[in-house]
Amino acid sequence: MAIDQAPAPAQQASAQEIARTVTVLGLESSCDDSAAAIVRLHGDGSAQVLAERVIGQNEAHAPFGGVVPEIAARGHAERMDTLAAEVLAEAELSVSELDAVAATAGPGLIGGVMAALMTAKGLALGAGLPLIAVNHLEGHALSPRLTEPLAFPWLLLLVSGGHTQLLVVEGVGRMTRLGSTIDDAAGEAFDKSAKIMGLGFPGGPAVEAIAREAADPGRFPLPRMLAKDKSCDFSFAGLKTAVKRSWDALEAPTPEDRADLAAAAQAAIARHLCERAGRAMAIFSERFADLDRPLPLVVAGGVAANAAVRTGLEAACAEHGFRLIAPPMKYCTDNAAMIALAGAERLRLGLTDPLDAPARARWPLDEHSAANAPATGAGRKGPKA
Ligand code: KG4
Ligand code: ZN
Repeated sequence: MAIDQAPAPAQQASAQEIARTVTVLGLESSCDDSAAAIVRLHGDGSAQVLAERVIGQNEAHAPFGGVVPEIAARGHAERMDTLAAEVLAEAELSVSELDAVAATAGPGLIGGVMAALMTAKGLALGAGLPLIAVNHLEGHALSPRLTEPLAFPWLLLLVSGGHTQLLVVEGVGRMTRLGSTIDDAAGEAFDKSAKIMGLGFPGGPAVEAIAREAADPGRFPLPRMLAKDKSCDFSFAGLKTAVKRSWDALEAPTPEDRADLAAAAQAAIARHLCERAGRAMAIFSERFADLDRPLPLVVAGGVAANAAVRTGLEAACAEHGFRLIAPPMKYCTDNAAMIALAGAERLRLGLTDPLDAPARARWPLDEHSAANAPATGAGRKGPKA
């Protein structure tokens, strides 16, 4: 397994600089949430969210059963400047009182990514502030530090509608990917199963609610994904096909059928996530054998809200000597506080970006692993990775 060879970015800034208290505005628009937040990172590593706003777009995308990029981009473009003004007003700060402006610069839906990044560039240029182009995945990876000064390293399971990854987080800019999805993301598996069964969008909460009513959750045998593959990668496309086949085989599906199939799909997704997370925990344990136990497993992304997934992860953690850390849901799902925090951490390390920093649809967090698995494109190790 490849170990990130990048030099520690901390070497680029003085100790005094790293301990400086900084206040950063963060903007996020990479998927279907438009968000702005102001975070103050104190010298002792504790973070204070001074103001935060998130506007979702579920109603706009619900008729399509998934996020429509053009609709998402327009929504973000209409809201970003107002959101930035609102959080500044709430924090009672003017732009010139900030230390930097951070925005997600990728990966994500490119039209949407541009909305936050361009707004951030305009504010940074106008106020003469540094710009920080944040990798959205690094935002998720650092999100537990919004609520507790968690010490590096930790293992991260990121499970959202756009991403499914297992990452070793050793520091800011120092992350190694152990596994990722080779097709759909875990949230997509919930969303697509829900769509097949005529449930609403987003599908995850709908599947979870209906699954609670299942009389016979074991009635539909669904496949174990990548059963023979010993990596930490994920695959959900086969499950979606199996759910469709089971649903289509029902002549006139009843609410009971739907509840049983939803429970089966949820159990299959949870089992797959926990099995792969267990494998990653074994790798992490070996690599950090001298660290005190329990070791930290952080779960982030919308799917972290799912009780079956959490219960399964708790059991896997108990088995492998880990403790499960789930940031509050508002920091598990897409938000700008995590982008502001990543920006603040980067600023203190001297890692700022030029005003021509590009918006990137694809941006693997772990450039080293990406270089070793260069098939970053469609299909295997594609955009969802
Ligand atoms: O992190 P998130 O809010 O947005 C991104 O995709 O970036 O994640 C949204 C995903 C959707 O696919 C949604 O169906 C799923 O998280 N989700 C859930 C639950 N709540 C949200 N999946 C399973 N169970 C839930 N309770
Ligand atoms: Zn996300």
